[in-house]
Amino acid sequence: MGVKRLILVVLLAAIFAGCAQRPQAEEALETEKPDNLVEYGRALFADASLGTNGKSCLTCHPEPSTLSGVGDKYNPKGYFKMAKREMTLKEVINFCIEVPMKGKPLPENDERLTALEAYLKSL
Ligand code: HEC
Repeated sequence: MGVKRLILVVLLAAIFAGCAQRPQAEEALETEKPDNLVEYGRALFADASLGTNGKSCLTCHPEPSTLSGVGDKYNPKGYFKMAKREMTLKEVINFCIEVPMKGKPLPENDERLTALEAYLKSL
């Protein structure tokens, strides 16, 4: 009984130690973020799970680089005319998630939204 309890304590200590180290691993990832974000966004662009009707961004935008007004190069103010009002790129992305993809718009600070934006701006 005593040995089992000792093993349990050691195991729990190892698990907690593992948890305590996780923020460090995330910090390490953060330094490489620009490249990773763009790659993450590229993957999300082809990911139908953002919506509920089996469509991904790529379904309707098969050549993403041709999306007009994407990126500061074409759109110095960072706004799009769509849905009868000016929108930021993030709002346009959420508009497409919500309306043509029938999904739930992503929160403003959601990493997926940031990644999609970074990807589109990289084109
Ligand atoms: C079912 C089709 C459909 C899907 C899926 C879709 N879009 Fe769109 N998207 C449109 C249409 C239609 C427009 C408005 C017309 C246009 O500009 O091409 C548009 C416009 C845009 C624009 C603005 C382009 C411009 O010229 O101003 C961006 C950026 C965009 N979509 C990104 C996305 C992203 C990111 C996704 C995935 C999260 C996505 N779209 C999914 C149909 C779609």
